[in-house]
Amino acid sequence: MNILVTGGISSRIGKNIVGRLLEEGHTVIATYRNDISNDKLPQSERLHTFKLDISEEADVKDCFNHFFNEKALPIDTLINNAGTNVGGMLTQLKTKDWKEMIDTNLTGTFLMCKYFSKYAARRKKGQIINIGSSAANGNLPYQGGYNASKAGLISLSKTLAVELAPYNLRVNIVNPGFIPSQLNQFSEAKEIEETEKSLLGIKHNLSNLVDFISFICADSLSGVTGQEFNIDSRLNK
Ligand SMILES: NC(=O)c1ccc[n+]([C@@H]2O[C@H](COP(=O)([O-])OP(=O)(O)OC[C@H]3O[C@@H](n4cnc5c(N)ncnc54)[C@H](OP(=O)(O)O)[C@@H]3O)[C@@H](O)[C@H]2O)c1
Repeated sequence: MNILVTGGISSRIGKNIVGRLLEEGHTVIATYRNDISNDKLPQSERLHTFKLDISEEADVKDCFNHFFNEKALPIDTLINNAGTNVGGMLTQLKTKDWKEMIDTNLTGTFLMCKYFSKYAARRKKGQIINIGSSAANGNLPYQGGYNASKAGLISLSKTLAVELAPYNLRVNIVNPGFIPSQLNQFSEAKEIEETEKSLLGIKHNLSNLVDFISFICADSLSGVTGQEFNIDSRLNK
């Protein structure tokens, strides 16, 4: 399978997904926004990289044109993993920070889905996995822009699932549990707090998340679309 993962180079979750998919023999396109030195990249002939800002329509258009047309490398699965979170009390949040979260998490994902499905619909084959968040269903304070953008992602994904089903394209959402990363401003105190919420008392289950994504990428859910999956051990988040 040919699989594109946004944020596949530098994101804690994204690079783990990319590593596993390469191990399993897939061809992977990992996108990045900020340059990273070559020696940090997994060494594989099946790894392709592409620089793009998912919130920039021209970048997104170029990316799919490049792989579907110029490189003749049609993408079977799109994993929308790139995301951002700027913390702060909603009433004090700078408008530019609010916009950055909506532009990336929601508009960026919309653009990726839009241009991917334009090509994939012609092949009548493909799937989209949107990385959501339990924040979408909650009301965690001081990350209201993030919560709202991820809530929008649910509606976006489910509507797309309905609209794209006639083209044999599937769309599902996968919500990770807490995974220490840049995005959630990892600190030891935060890790302790989240570990206490885990019914199993575990620090994180990144490997389970990667297992699940790899399972979906093997087309093991060929009859499933429009669904939301929580890979978590917390009930109260
Ligand atoms: N970590 C968690 O606990 C957790 C829980 C639930 C959901 N999630 C979701 O999982 C996904 C990955 O999170 P993570 O924890 O791995 O975060 P992370 O390590 O902070 O990585 C975020 C990634 O997003 C990329 N990115 C941000 N804005 C972008 C843009 N406009 N265009 C292109 N790329 C952009 C960054 O690329 P650059 O480095 O190149 O800027 C980076 O690779 C996110 O969607 C997040 O919401 C995470």
